[in-house]
Amino acid sequence: MTSKSVYLETFGCQMNELDSELVAGSLGGMGYRFTANADEADIVLYNTCSVRERAEQKVWSRLGEMKHRKKHQPDLVVGVLGCMAERDGKNMIAKAPVVDIMCGPAELDKLPQLIDNAVRTKASLIESDPEVAIRRSAKQVALQGNASRRSSTLAAAGDSLESLDLGRMISPVDFDGRRSAYVRITRGCNKFCTYCVVPHTRGAEIHRPPEHIIDEIKSLADTGVIEITLLGQTVNHYRFEHDSAVSIDGVVQPQKGRTYKGSHNRDAFAGANTTTFADLLYRIHEEVPAIQRLRFVTSYPRDFGDDVLQVIRDCPRICRFIHVPAQTGSNRMLKMMNRGHTIEEYYEFIQRCNEYLHQPEIGRPLMLGGDIIVGFPTETDEDHELTKELLTRSRYKNCFIFKYSPRPGTVAYDKIPDDIPNEIKRLRNNELLDLQTKISDQIAQEQVGGEFDIFVEGLSRREHKRRGTDVKPGSGMVGITIGGAAPQMQSAVLDSTDHGPTAQLSGRTDGDLIVFFDVPTDGVVPPSDYIGKIVKARITSADKLSLNGELI
Ligand code: 5AD
Ligand code: SF4
Repeated sequence: MTSKSVYLETFGCQMNELDSELVAGSLGGMGYRFTANADEADIVLYNTCSVRERAEQKVWSRLGEMKHRKKHQPDLVVGVLGCMAERDGKNMIAKAPVVDIMCGPAELDKLPQLIDNAVRTKASLIESDPEVAIRRSAKQVALQGNASRRSSTLAAAGDSLESLDLGRMISPVDFDGRRSAYVRITRGCNKFCTYCVVPHTRGAEIHRPPEHIIDEIKSLADTGVIEITLLGQTVNHYRFEHDSAVSIDGVVQPQKGRTYKGSHNRDAFAGANTTTFADLLYRIHEEVPAIQRLRFVTSYPRDFGDDVLQVIRDCPRICRFIHVPAQTGSNRMLKMMNRGHTIEEYYEFIQRCNEYLHQPEIGRPLMLGGDIIVGFPTETDEDHELTKELLTRSRYKNCFIFKYSPRPGTVAYDKIPDDIPNEIKRLRNNELLDLQTKISDQIAQEQVGGEFDIFVEGLSRREHKRRGTDVKPGSGMVGITIGGAAPQMQSAVLDSTDHGPTAQLSGRTDGDLIVFFDVPTDGVVPPSDYIGKIVKARITSADKLSLNGELI
């Protein structure tokens, strides 16, 4: 057991948030304490993202600060985890000896050992020469390199990765009041979009056995979790072949293949012993009914069979929100990006989604989300107009718009010069943002008068500001920002009547729309009692992108 304290800051995507949570769980189990204040930590860890250069720059500036800090604290241990470690490889330590630990996203199960080694190495360096200890890295490195793409090592990589998810600390005794959790179903990506670093940093696609996924969800449900978000880079590509499946402890998995018998099953390739994404959704829905909201991100347009849409339609607890990035509206760009589908196929898919799932008459309109890259090399005004058409036709509830950022190691970086000037990227970016804001606003207005089930997450941001209890998102402290509200941290402030007779809470519809509503602070039901529950509300107004409602 150790008494060292750890500061862990997470950059980037939900997959990183989950990795941080699992890492925090395993370190917590070994006695490490966590602090939200980097200044008081013995060990500072950054779980990093490489998708765009900006995310990496932030980490470099943090490392600059740590270099100064080591002058006063030579035993400080600094670790870079995740995609940036994997992408930069060992060069990073040569460039920045302030880094003691580098641990790729596929090696996080080794982190406790790396930290332990780094602490010991630092101690012996200090003992021999404190001046040298300030400048010298403890050099603890675990990276997968190119190994995970070789099929002989794929199974081994899968097993060691699986141990991180399997080791998740879930105990009703430690119940922290959280009602929302991420669960990984797939690691890595095999798509190789030409701009994207993920297949290089997270490695080859590996699917987790359905039994492990379902057991994990059952354990989470036992602690009070009612909302699960399944994670994968291309989540709908999930497929598990039971024949060849041997679990981590060498036990052959029971052969449970197709469970969902949709009437228009398009997935003709799946044999009787395959669990497809549709089967997995169906099994979770049927086997863990305590989960009242089942979500999944991110979807890849090409792998979506009708069977998945039918399962979503037929299972009331699967949410009507699909985040399915198109990246661009131009076929020429899609081809250069190696997206593997045309824009016509994408439109056909959106149409199928709406036919199956858009049911505003029962309070369940389908909501779509997207991602766009502007200024990919050679993008013309015509291509840009086609992307505007994509936004108009797809009617995303929200869409992330990114300026193209060339990433070393990708095909686009090596083969296609980044020839669109930043000023043009910026103009196109702003134009798309304006257009998307109008669309999101229209969608919000359309919900006025509707009645929705709302999953209550906590005090609204506005209420936090009003009370001076604002929690900065991404403040680095695991547990504050991951997976929604952690009620017990807030209940003291939540139920206070000092700030007036009402408190504004915020929650989400199953289509992922944010709704604000007021509850009395001096009523029979205190505000904290709403959190983590599903309530019914009528939408009374829409102000820009946010919906205001009243409880019914
Ligand atoms: N430049 C800009 N945006 C990128 N994305 C991925 N790689 C890049 C890049 N090199 C965006 C895509 C993806 C999202 C997670 O990040 O839109 O869907
Ligand atoms: Fe990157 Fe494309 Fe894989 Fe998404 S599907 S992670 S954009 S390579």
